[in-house]
Amino acid sequence: GSSGNPRILISGAPASGKGTQCELIVEEFGVVHISTGDMLRSAVKNKTELGLKAKEFMDAGKLVTDELVISMLKERLSQPDVARNGYLLDGFPRTSAQADALDEAGVGFDAVVKLEVPDEVLVERVIGRRSDPETGKVYHMKFSPPESEEIAERLVQRSDDTEEKVKVRLNAFYEHAAAIDKKYSDGSLMTVLNGNRDKNEVFSDISKIVRASVSKRNPLNTII
Ligand code: AP5
Repeated sequence: GSSGNPRILISGAPASGKGTQCELIVEEFGVVHISTGDMLRSAVKNKTELGLKAKEFMDAGKLVTDELVISMLKERLSQPDVARNGYLLDGFPRTSAQADALDEAGVGFDAVVKLEVPDEVLVERVIGRRSDPETGKVYHMKFSPPESEEIAERLVQRSDDTEEKVKVRLNAFYEHAAAIDKKYSDGSLMTVLNGNRDKNEVFSDISKIVRASVSKRNPLNTII
């Protein structure tokens, strides 16, 4: 069981593999995956008030305003499943204002994992990424192609997954990366991993980090 309730933050550039690793982390540790990107895409799709405000920024590859994202995230963190199962933040915080908002709300982490991948690989990953609207599963036409022709035919591409927009997204990431790194660089909280490896190799490292950090916080409550 996951009585250790891990509190995890995963960070990294666009297409560094955050979502892919989160799927594996959830399977292993049963934590609540909170992806601000997924939440915003769902708001856009459902044409909610938030979605209508966020769409323009997202389509352009730009960050959505702190105010909108912070209130959306706080709302999600207040749901009971988060306290019950622990959390895995993906894509938040992305600015120092967002990191400060977490501090103010008393939201801390046992482990912060940052995935590092060279820019040219990130661009290749973005361009080949597709997702299945029926299952939500994320594929890559070269690195993890769909299992059948039927699935291949219904795959869709994100509006911000173009070579032009990934440049804007990378710039937004690098603009804030140093401030975020500084925030979590105290002690042994943050681990930087080479994300340019097989996804199972990356996950094996993450799994060890999460186990070690939770048993360090609470030695009697290790994850079995
Ligand atoms: P968000 O959804 O967070 O996008 P992102 O950070 O650009 O990250 P991605 O989803 O592109 O990539 P990923 O790291 O999850 O990679 P994945 O596993 O899919 O944000 C989107 C937008 O929302 C932002 O631009 C902004 O507008 C807004 N937003 C969100 N949060 C915000 C915030 N806090 N503040 C303000 N605005 C916010 O992998 C990518 C591809 O590579 C896939 O095809 C996958 O199959 C493949 N792949 C993965 N791992 C490997 C591997 N090890 N080897 C080979 N291929 C791999």
